[in-house]
Amino acid sequence: MSERWTPESWQAKPVRQMPVYPDQSRATAVVERLRNYPPLVFAGEARRLTQALAKAAVGQAFVLQGGDCAESFAEFHPNNIRDTFRVMLQMAVVMTFGGGTPVVKIGRMAGQFAKPRSADTETVDGVELPSYRGDIINGFDFTAEARIPDPERMVLAFNQAAATLNLLRAFAQGGYADLQKVHQWTLGFVERTLQGERFRSMADRIGETLDFMAACGITAETTPQIRETDFFTSHEGLLLPYEQAMTRIDSTTGDWYDVSAHLLWIGDRTRQPDGAHVEFFRGVKNPLGLKCGPSLDPGELVRLIDILNPENVAGRLILIVRMGADKVAEKFAPLIRAVKAAGRSVVWVCDPMHGNTVKSASGYKTRPFERVLAEVRGFFAVCQGEGVYPGGVHFEMTGQDVTECTGGAQAITDHKLSLRYHTACDPRLNASQSLELAFLIAEELKRARLGQVAAAAAE
Ligand code: PEP
Ligand code: CO
Repeated sequence: MSERWTPESWQAKPVRQMPVYPDQSRATAVVERLRNYPPLVFAGEARRLTQALAKAAVGQAFVLQGGDCAESFAEFHPNNIRDTFRVMLQMAVVMTFGGGTPVVKIGRMAGQFAKPRSADTETVDGVELPSYRGDIINGFDFTAEARIPDPERMVLAFNQAAATLNLLRAFAQGGYADLQKVHQWTLGFVERTLQGERFRSMADRIGETLDFMAACGITAETTPQIRETDFFTSHEGLLLPYEQAMTRIDSTTGDWYDVSAHLLWIGDRTRQPDGAHVEFFRGVKNPLGLKCGPSLDPGELVRLIDILNPENVAGRLILIVRMGADKVAEKFAPLIRAVKAAGRSVVWVCDPMHGNTVKSASGYKTRPFERVLAEVRGFFAVCQGEGVYPGGVHFEMTGQDVTECTGGAQAITDHKLSLRYHTACDPRLNASQSLELAFLIAEELKRARLGQVAAAAAE
């Protein structure tokens, strides 16, 4: 019924948010070069992620997807990668231990370079220039030259993604993520805070549990899961020429995979059912994300699911709901009802960041931490009310001690935002705020599990 898909069939569809390169022949040449670069991920790993997500769809696992809003060439440093990774490990361990659920860890890392923008231009002091669209497209500096899209940036982004992924794999499998090192994951500046203390006391209990298990004969030697972990990568699949160049046939199955990351998501601004992004991603077998903002009509969501997951494969599609704290109660439930009525398997994931961005009195783009918390709570409440499993969370966070989101236990106020405001795009949670959130999610997860047990007992 549907038209034939090819890696270039998106080119015949209306496309949004795409750069116009001044010299198209140079862009074509770069894409040709990229087509011969090695895959960053193996299709079998993407399939393993689909299987893990299928568990999240039925409440047997919980997704933690997090990382930078935009990775940047300037901030490329092993310490930044390590610190984001370890905060994610900490969050995952808090949720696993506190919430009693395995956590599927997915970084917004190793490829998260392209940014959709609300406006095509930006004006500063009366000067209007094209918007910054992420380091894979143009430069952050506010100069006419920096803002010209440069295709060579795709190669730089590929190289940075490859090096980042290499380090992440080493951390995940080489011993850094060993649960016996759980005490060592706390970052220096978090150690002396309330969240650091809460984490230390949980780490003590994990240590005791590991000692007990070791006494029973279960150790890192007998059970590699204690020593290593799975860590998957993801980014917004926005820059289609790059994604097309990275799309290859998997020799073991004959299927097409976008080997730039394990999971790719379609942003809230590029999810038109007849648009180029939906056309491109319907044809690759990776697990996909779809951002669901307040303007998404429930009927249109079902249409998108029909296009993106016509065979209703469990774990193929995560729906990343980003309504805003004040809208989640009203806007989320109709989406759930439509998906349930259509009998579709999806993973419901809460992104409490993108619907809660405000401008501070001092002019900074920020997110009040209490609104982020409120959206997470609202998300869990709606899931419970509608009888679906809360499947995961999606955050913009960093391991650095930044001051970009107001509030939290450190009480970052409006006038403190300027102290360490480093993001190239959206404001991120810092390590302490991320941990605080993880504890709240663990409580919600525990409550959701107890609710399920009670419901099963009453049946
Ligand atoms: C993002 O995740 O950085 C983003 C731009 O999200 P959304 O498409 O939901 O606005
Ligand atoms: Co963002």
